[in-house]
Amino acid sequence: MKFDLEAYLTFSSNIVNIRKDVDEVIQNINKKIFNDKKKIDKWDVDKNLLHLHIFSTLSSSRPHSLLLQIKNMLSRELGRKHHIGVREIGIKKYRIDFELEKKPLKKVSIPFADVRIDGKLVTMYIHDVDEDFVRKNYIDRMINLVREKVEQQYYEGKTEFWRLIWRSEEKKPVWSKDPTEEMIRLGWLKQGPTKGKWFYGPKAAALLRAMEMIALNEVLHPLGFQEVVSSHIVPFDIWLKTGHLEGMPGEFYYVAEPCSRDVEKWQRFIDLTKITKEVPMEELKNNLSIPSAGICYAQCPVIYWFFKGRTIAEKSLPVLVYDRTAISNRYESGGRHGIERVDEFHRIEPVYIGTKEQLLDLRDKLIERYKHVFNNILDLEWRMAWVTPWYMQQAGKNMEKQEEEQETGTIDFEAYLPYRGDRDKSEWLEFQNLSIIGDKYVKAFNIKTQKKELWSGCSGIGLERWTAVFLAQKGLKPEYWPDGFKKYLEKLPRDIKFL
Ligand code: SER
Ligand code: ZN
Repeated sequence: MKFDLEAYLTFSSNIVNIRKDVDEVIQNINKKIFNDKKKIDKWDVDKNLLHLHIFSTLSSSRPHSLLLQIKNMLSRELGRKHHIGVREIGIKKYRIDFELEKKPLKKVSIPFADVRIDGKLVTMYIHDVDEDFVRKNYIDRMINLVREKVEQQYYEGKTEFWRLIWRSEEKKPVWSKDPTEEMIRLGWLKQGPTKGKWFYGPKAAALLRAMEMIALNEVLHPLGFQEVVSSHIVPFDIWLKTGHLEGMPGEFYYVAEPCSRDVEKWQRFIDLTKITKEVPMEELKNNLSIPSAGICYAQCPVIYWFFKGRTIAEKSLPVLVYDRTAISNRYESGGRHGIERVDEFHRIEPVYIGTKEQLLDLRDKLIERYKHVFNNILDLEWRMAWVTPWYMQQAGKNMEKQEEEQETGTIDFEAYLPYRGDRDKSEWLEFQNLSIIGDKYVKAFNIKTQKKELWSGCSGIGLERWTAVFLAQKGLKPEYWPDGFKKYLEKLPRDIKFL
């Protein structure tokens, strides 16, 4: 890497008269901390400004970080002798040259810099930025972002990573209709008042709740999981930590708080509503704040927040909790279909925090319990596969799963949907996942225990997905349902008749 930096330091008073001392401090800095590969090679004094030119060819000593060191040394030395301090530092011009591993496939641009790429060589130009910019480490992240964007170009269009782990035997489906359409026809289900959401009548609701009871009684409670009740609304700082904010900003439902609850402030809105019997949108805009939170996207981020900064006693490990209260909302736009691809879904999310050994052991036990449910209770045709971990995708990284020992990563549970056609040609539905995340989130939320290293993970149990898969294979008639399931839902509630 090569760095070429023109910076300035503003002093509390004119330094022209103490130029000799300034020169001496700089020569000292050059001698003591710097060397041939990094140094202040030119400088000039103009009233209370000191202009510096720093260059470095070491990727470990980046002039923008050296700048803060220089500021401190000058402040210390000149402060002692002349009671003059450095008010602020800034960058006038900065050129950074670095090499990429691969040639970009198309143009790359980032905010705050002009980026030019020739083959694998990148030149990044930054102009006129202040101390805050330097201090907050934007520059290193900008360099990383260029690298990441080029990496990303190589993954676009590549088929997703997928490796089969296990596959059940083939099962003969009782029908091949799309259960959502049938349920709508029969009045069990109605498209919700806003897009991508459903209203589940008594029969459909009973199905979702039966699935929930199965997950609780057959998987979570036998393994010792305890219920927590989480909040639906997720402030942005939580998503900043998990990476969701940079990963899927286009998929959140954003939450806007009113600017005030004072009726006075809403008076015009109320009056307009009374007169027009319409929503006064312009007036509404004036009365709302910009969102600083969104509706739950997955439950685990808020569960991690609960443990944030805490030290968990070893005897409480592994922590096994689940939330079934927060409803997940994702803006799916064009992707919606039936009850299996929706903007709003009901899910139980177990989260586990423990040592690596505890979590690898738990994964085996969870898989065993899930197998029991899908084989013995729901009697499904399904399979398990390693896939690109959701926590990479949701953090905006589209890397393939590294071929390590599969200690961390995501397993998808997929089921055959007969209405989509041939079992070998059609796309199966992911109806469940299970992940071991490693230390990514415990680190991000600073969750600790005595001595040992912690890992975490989560598993998404989507009630709509379980229901969609079950009905697609087993139909809507209880007489064809497997006995294991009938124990949970022997007969469907009665209908509401409409005339
Ligand atoms: N957090 C995981 C996901 O979003 C599991 O629910 O898929
Ligand atoms: Zn999760």
